[in-house]
Amino acid sequence: MSFTVWFTGFSGAGKTTLSSAIYKEILKYGLPAELLDGDVIRSNFAQDLTYSKEHRNINVTRIGFLSKLLNKHGVVSVVAMISPYHVAREENKKNITNYIEVYCNCSVSHLKKRDPKGLYAKAVRGEIKNFTGISDEYEEPESPSLVVNTEYETVDESISKIIDYLKNNGFLVD
Ligand code: ADX
Repeated sequence: MSFTVWFTGFSGAGKTTLSSAIYKEILKYGLPAELLDGDVIRSNFAQDLTYSKEHRNINVTRIGFLSKLLNKHGVVSVVAMISPYHVAREENKKNITNYIEVYCNCSVSHLKKRDPKGLYAKAVRGEIKNFTGISDEYEEPESPSLVVNTEYETVDESISKIIDYLKNNGFLVD
């Protein structure tokens, strides 16, 4: 049985950067792996879905199901999705045997300042509806496997924390 590393957190909180780095690290250990990024999934696999609560939950559990299938065939799944709602995350946690949830914690006030894609500014102006953190909810994970504080940690510090967790729990073996 393989494992799933699931990154959750606000848009811009570092999910794509960290998941891509962790995916590359996992490949170095000789394990087959797949990277499933929310933005890529939405443009290839979830074009039918909006950003309503119902559709976000479908998006998250759909990718959870895909991860379970990948894991069944020995492929590590690394997922980066906002996954804002507790109920969908919990469903995945229940269904995926080795589910590792990494919460990328960063405050909205900091994200508004960073805003490399200008999405927060647009959301504040009302040009993007249901934008997580501005006009839509994010339910903070209650018991994630790991929290990386991307507001204060460097990218390398967060990567090390995640790799250490995977090693200490026997998912990666030197
Ligand atoms: S999730 O809520 O269903 O897990 P997902 O990770 O797939 O979200 O997609 C989030 C990405 O979609 C963001 O990184 C951003 O680029 C884009 N996006 C477009 N509209 C929204 C919105 N209303 N809320 C959040 N992200 C949005």
